[in-house]
Amino acid sequence: MSDALPVYTGPERILSGMQPTGGLHIGNYLGALKHWVRLQEGKADCFYCVVDMHAITVAHDPADLPGRVRAAAAAYLAAGVDPSRSAVFAQSAVPAHAELAWIFQCVARLGWLERMTQFKDKAGKDAERASVGLFTYPVLQAADILIYKATHVPVGEDQKQHLELSRDIAARFNRDFGAGEAVLPLPEPVIPPSGAGARIMSLKDGTAKMSKSDPSDNSRINLNDDADTIARKIKKAKTDAEPLPASTAELDARPEARNLVGLYAALTGVSAQAVLDDHAGQGFGAFTPKLAEIAVEFIAPIAGEYARLIADPAEIDRILTSGAERARAAAEPVIAQVRGLVGYWKG
Ligand code: TYM
Repeated sequence: MSDALPVYTGPERILSGMQPTGGLHIGNYLGALKHWVRLQEGKADCFYCVVDMHAITVAHDPADLPGRVRAAAAAYLAAGVDPSRSAVFAQSAVPAHAELAWIFQCVARLGWLERMTQFKDKAGKDAERASVGLFTYPVLQAADILIYKATHVPVGEDQKQHLELSRDIAARFNRDFGAGEAVLPLPEPVIPPSGAGARIMSLKDGTAKMSKSDPSDNSRINLNDDADTIARKIKKAKTDAEPLPASTAELDARPEARNLVGLYAALTGVSAQAVLDDHAGQGFGAFTPKLAEIAVEFIAPIAGEYARLIADPAEIDRILTSGAERARAAAEPVIAQVRGLVGYWKG
């Protein structure tokens, strides 16, 4: 795919989003949300959306969706996203996402989408029965990003392939319609270093990603879990019979041990090696209660703030409404430029 492109020299812009699929968990926080909060400290404009259009690519209950959007927005705010600095909004409230997604469907190649591993995972064995929307999901994601000409996208490691597709779409668009100009920037993923929360694994299976869609709630720590629930889940987490080793290389064949050490490291802001330096030789009987205590302390303020926010849906709606206005204003000139470049009738 095209690489010799002009360099984009526009302003830095941050965009990211999460699906409103049940409550958010500590993987969402450590992989992405934490960095959303960090990035809003800089000069760049930040756009953080709840991707309700992505949520309808699978069966859903329309009556539940608005509540799920509010819950996700409340989790963003509880984690520290500041609506006076960052636009917090529902994706569906900015129609330009859908309009750009259509244009990108005509830019992206079938072969590019056929390589997307998340579609294969999500569609399962019966891909023929999956919605077309689930297949083109990453194209809408590219539109989410590029409708703001976002330059940086803070996400967990599992989104890396989707970000590569967004770059390919931007590059192809520039080549086909940009007349030599880098109209759309090639967005950079901002992914935490591995071992620092880029990919938190399930508490029940160290080889599976911690996920909102896992049927077992014990597999994840939710951002609104209470102290007893967190402690119970961590104490019941899958471990192995060996004591903790002295070096991280020795964790390679021990996925559950590696995950719990990684979680401890990410929550305390130290390296996995530093955790092992302090705990080598200890069994999980000693280690997991300490991890539980740290997780409880970490989540408590977020869960408290979430409970306060979710009790006031009118306030969340006010924030979502004003975020959508800001997002629409930012998207408008970009969609106007793109419409012109593809040659739509001007009327
Ligand atoms: P979603 O809703 O699955 O996840 C939201 C964010 O959380 C990160 N994440 C994790 N990080 C570490 N460990 C985990 N176990 C873990 N699980 C999830 C994800 O990497 C993500 O950053 N396609 C996206 C949503 C999306 C989007 C966008 C993201 C739609 N449009 C535009 C960025 C830009 C998704 O399904 O994320």
